[in-house]
Amino acid sequence: MAYFRPEIEAMTGYVPGEQPAEAEVVKLNTNENPYRCSPAVARAIEDALGRGLARYPHPMAENFRRQAAEVLGIEPDWILCGNGSDDLLTIVTRALVGPGQRLRLPYPSYILYKTLAELQGARAEEVRFRPDWTLDEGFFAGGNDPRLVFLANPNSPSGTVIPPDAVLDIARRLPCPLLVDEAYVDFAEMNCLDLVAQCDKILVSRSLSKSYALAGLRFGYLVAQPHMIEQFTKVKDSYNCDTLAAAGAAAALADRAWLAENRAKILATRGRLAEAMRGLGFHVAPSQANFVWCTRGDRPVRPLYEGLKRQGVLVRYMNYPGWGDGLRISVGTDDQIDRCLKLLAEML
Ligand SMILES: Cc1ncc(COP(=O)(O)O)c(C=O)c1O
Repeated sequence: MAYFRPEIEAMTGYVPGEQPAEAEVVKLNTNENPYRCSPAVARAIEDALGRGLARYPHPMAENFRRQAAEVLGIEPDWILCGNGSDDLLTIVTRALVGPGQRLRLPYPSYILYKTLAELQGARAEEVRFRPDWTLDEGFFAGGNDPRLVFLANPNSPSGTVIPPDAVLDIARRLPCPLLVDEAYVDFAEMNCLDLVAQCDKILVSRSLSKSYALAGLRFGYLVAQPHMIEQFTKVKDSYNCDTLAAAGAAAALADRAWLAENRAKILATRGRLAEAMRGLGFHVAPSQANFVWCTRGDRPVRPLYEGLKRQGVLVRYMNYPGWGDGLRISVGTDDQIDRCLKLLAEML
């Protein structure tokens, strides 16, 4: 007896990066921030807890929307909050892509995009990056009637970016919305926020998991024109963001000094990590994110991943069919990165 929809039976499901229980593991595999979040977050959560949790949260997390609107210089009705940015990717996919329709995604990129297409019973149309991580005509083409296109910018695993003028050009040529996934954008030199007002096909999603050191809180937001937000709101769970998360997230966004200081530390360590990896003979993609993608032409890197893991350092090993394998190393503290580099140097 088959209880499930055939699409569900057929799919493997998204496999998140490992989350080991041992505290002593140096965890450089899921692009978390190695530092503690702003102290303002705990204070805001305690205040919210003090007011009690008997009531449902505001359905649109209005306190967060107002704070984000102020920081971003937009109106609150351009913002939709999510239980992590993954929640927003799900909402957008459910709203735009029906069974049998096409969802376009770059390859290699965030693996969840394909999973979301599979969940909908939609067809994932993967368009390869060029070897230098730029995109060709196939990505903008209007043929095949795509209903939604995803673009992680900065991309994962590469950390590379497509500049905003090129993103606007892609969106204008596409017949459907383009979701620019800016989960890592606070570590980059550019962003696509201003494009949203210029083109209603452009949707920008952001996460508090990486640059605000709040992966455990689960909070993200989407910026789109108000008539788009109105439609996406119909698709979300009524109370998709809880009271404590919304309070903590609003406080995190308000502490701009914390963000600037954290960003500076991560960027300094990223520069050191990339240079040292090049010194060890890796090719390192030019990253504007909080991780670096390292490959080698002369040998498979899986044994290096395994060797690091045996010695308590967890990085992400990726092997993309037709593309090759590599190590994606999240930017940790300087001590963590030194440990990782020392072990790699011993193994090479
Ligand atoms: C490209 C990209 N988008 C979105 C996410 C999800 O972020 P969140 O924790 O906000 O759901 C990730 C997480 O790794 C990611 O790599």
